[in-house]
Amino acid sequence: MTRLALIGAGLIGREHAGLITAHPCAELVAICDPSPESQQYAATLGVPHFPKWDGMLDQVKPDGAIIALPNQLHEPVAMSCISRNIACLIEKPIAESLPSAWRITLAAEQSGTPVLVGHQRRHSPDIRAAKQTIEAGDLGPLVAVNGMTLFDKPNDYFNAEWRTKAGGGVLLINLIHDIDVLRYLVGEIESIRAFTSSATRGFEVEDTASLAIKFENGTLGTFVISDSAVSPWAWEYTSGQALYHPNQPGACLFLAGRKAALSLSDMYLWRHANEHEHWQHPLVREHRAPERSLTYVNQLDHFIEVAHRKAAPLISARDGMSTLAATLAVSLAGREDRSVSVAELLAEARPS
Ligand SMILES: NC(=O)c1ccc[n+]([C@@H]2O[C@H](COP(=O)([O-])OP(=O)(O)OC[C@H]3O[C@@H](n4cnc5c(N)ncnc54)[C@H](O)[C@@H]3O)[C@@H](O)[C@H]2O)c1
Repeated sequence: MTRLALIGAGLIGREHAGLITAHPCAELVAICDPSPESQQYAATLGVPHFPKWDGMLDQVKPDGAIIALPNQLHEPVAMSCISRNIACLIEKPIAESLPSAWRITLAAEQSGTPVLVGHQRRHSPDIRAAKQTIEAGDLGPLVAVNGMTLFDKPNDYFNAEWRTKAGGGVLLINLIHDIDVLRYLVGEIESIRAFTSSATRGFEVEDTASLAIKFENGTLGTFVISDSAVSPWAWEYTSGQALYHPNQPGACLFLAGRKAALSLSDMYLWRHANEHEHWQHPLVREHRAPERSLTYVNQLDHFIEVAHRKAAPLISARDGMSTLAATLAVSLAGREDRSVSVAELLAEARPS
């Protein structure tokens, strides 16, 4: 059995708790969260409860810890795990700022402690199938990509104040998943231009953004996101893989290459019948149905391997930091109305 501790038993933490308790090879050995509700919750599950993470880590000595805390707390808790060489799954974003992400990354690399960042979509059947399709060369070199995440969160979601302040917002809470998928499927992002807005919800953080993206391999992309618009165009709906959202089958991401195009999550590949055809010929549509495994279960399976040092993290701290840098580039590009280089942003934040 793999002994796992949960630090932060809020919205996603309780989902992790449910996944661990249902897993045949994992045991939930502690819940750490200072809130009275979490104490009650731990008692319901019959799991030892701790108000402070340091004491819990020393006493319980878990094989791995899942950090599901407000973004601003990821660094101190990750550092506590790393200093004890305890593998951790840090919910995304790895941290709320790049200096903080650098400190986690360097500490993890120096100590050799495995850190997996919770970009769960990389464990999703549709994203895996898209990755295989691209790597097999079926799309040819990618030319242009376009995606959307447009959904409407309920007002009381923002009662948790951290979601409305710097470190929260639709960019760090949601867009970061899309950026991670784009980096994974298309390649490293070179630079970003963006318009950002907080006009709909009126918080200090953004609720809506539009992006123009240049990838290092020359592919160009666009993306729009909002947490306050009604639409079925978001991976949470189209994949059928999200934990607490309905499945609305359809597409939210479009990848177009020299040979063919692919839409996700409906997984239609569009191509010409032969290489001499072009825009005046009808396209052939193939359905590339992915396998049916469950994203979050796959992520937990992987974390168990990582905790036992049997697999390297699919999304390392450094990888998660690059996704964070590209996401923060959106915010900066919007604020300063300019093109932002992701590599420059990362280098500027590196501790000397
Ligand atoms: N990957 C995903 O699908 C996904 C989904 C939702 C949230 N998240 C991420 O997970 C993290 C948590 O988000 P959430 O929506 O569950 O937040 P939440 O506010 O619902 O829960 C956070 C929990 O942390 C607890 N907490 C606060 N201070 C603590 C401390 N010092 N020690 C221990 N516990 C403490 C709170 O009491 C609360 O129960 C965020 O980083 C968020 O971005 C990821």
